[in-house]
Amino acid sequence: MGLVSSSRLPTSRAIGPSCIPFLAFLSVSVFLLYKADLYIAYSKRGLRRYQARPYMHSPVFYDIEPRVITNGTFNRLFEISWGEDHANILEDGELLTLSLDRRSGSGLRSKNEYLFGKIDMQLKLIKGNSAGTVTAYYLSSEGDFHDEIDFEFLGNTSGDPYTLSTNVYSQGKGEREQQFFLWFDPTVDFHTYTIIWNPRRILFYVDDTPIREFTNNEAIGVPFLNTQPMRLHSSIWNAEEWATRGGLVKTDWSRAPFIASYKNFSVDACIWSPSRGSSCRSNSTTRPWYREKLNTAATRKLKWAQKYHRVYNYCTDKWRFPKGVGPECKLT
Ligand SMILES: *[C@@H]1O[C@H](CO)[C@@H](O)[C@H](O)[C@H]1NC(C)=O
Ligand SMILES: *[C@@H]1O[C@H](CO)[C@@H](O)[C@H](O)[C@H]1NC(C)=O
Ligand SMILES: *[C@@H]1O[C@H](CO)[C@@H](O)[C@H](O)[C@H]1NC(C)=O
Ligand SMILES: *[C@@H]1O[C@H](CO)[C@@H](O)[C@H](O)[C@H]1NC(C)=O
Repeated sequence: MGLVSSSRLPTSRAIGPSCIPFLAFLSVSVFLLYKADLYIAYSKRGLRRYQARPYMHSPVFYDIEPRVITNGTFNRLFEISWGEDHANILEDGELLTLSLDRRSGSGLRSKNEYLFGKIDMQLKLIKGNSAGTVTAYYLSSEGDFHDEIDFEFLGNTSGDPYTLSTNVYSQGKGEREQQFFLWFDPTVDFHTYTIIWNPRRILFYVDDTPIREFTNNEAIGVPFLNTQPMRLHSSIWNAEEWATRGGLVKTDWSRAPFIASYKNFSVDACIWSPSRGSSCRSNSTTRPWYREKLNTAATRKLKWAQKYHRVYNYCTDKWRFPKGVGPECKLT
């Protein structure tokens, strides 16, 4: 038995040449399988393609002196940072509109800088054909290695869904987009968009639904946003080169002005000042958002939003990150 089979074994010299076609076949199939997998991953996303864009939120023209108008919430806590005549504070300072036309967009920023907090704003986005426009609502620090927490609303043609794009930059590194089609039309009514930012995690909420969690993963080498104070910014501007269907649909200027409205702003945050540091140092732990984490019911909501409404997740984008996605992606 042993003799028979060993006599049938090819000698080691024979293994080489006779196996070459097989090995070639094997490597070609492995390669094709990999390609097919990429192809499937890509086509499953189909229309959900990531909207590539240059890093630029808005032209932030700090050269004009910010204007302070009256005494309501928007007047007390914000200043208009650009496109002054395109920003309006109404209803005793409790309603704000930003508008965009061919000539200019507009933007505002908070007077205070914050280091951790809970921030709520109600927004109503541009009605009708908003293709080519971007309404951004974000926290950002300054400098080359800036931190940033983003909500960006990419406009669309009438009847097509807005894309809500979220992102997190830490120490200047972004490329962490997750995008959503909302479960309601954000142009009909005001809805609340909330950022909870504490030393353990960042939570993005739409009304009462958490849609994204970015946890502190410093332990595995992902810098967290816990050293740089950030200001809240919002702006509306034209980005027709990339915003809608990757730039295929341009802005229809005959529909201008494009107007987004803001109201019921509330902030419970640690205010940072260069001389005194954080206002929270002493009793921050008494604030619920400082320890906020998702309980079972909230986690269920998060999963629902991600399963049914998330249309892009950088963590699964093999095309964009051929060398592999960030280490934080492997944890969830
Ligand atoms: C703003 O000030 C005016 C008068 O200066 C006052 O009538 C009004 O009630 C104030 N509004 C708010 C929101 O405090
Ligand atoms: C606009 O609508 C189209 C069609 O549903 C969709 O593919 C696209 O992702 C939407 N959003 C943007 C910002 O292009
Ligand atoms: C304003 O926002 C707070 C939470 O920040 C919320 O409890 C309240 O219901 C909102 N008011 C209106 C009129 O929507
Ligand atoms: C500390 O907490 C007390 C009451 O809980 C509050 O009145 C006070 O403003 C807080 N101080 C700071 C610096 O946040």
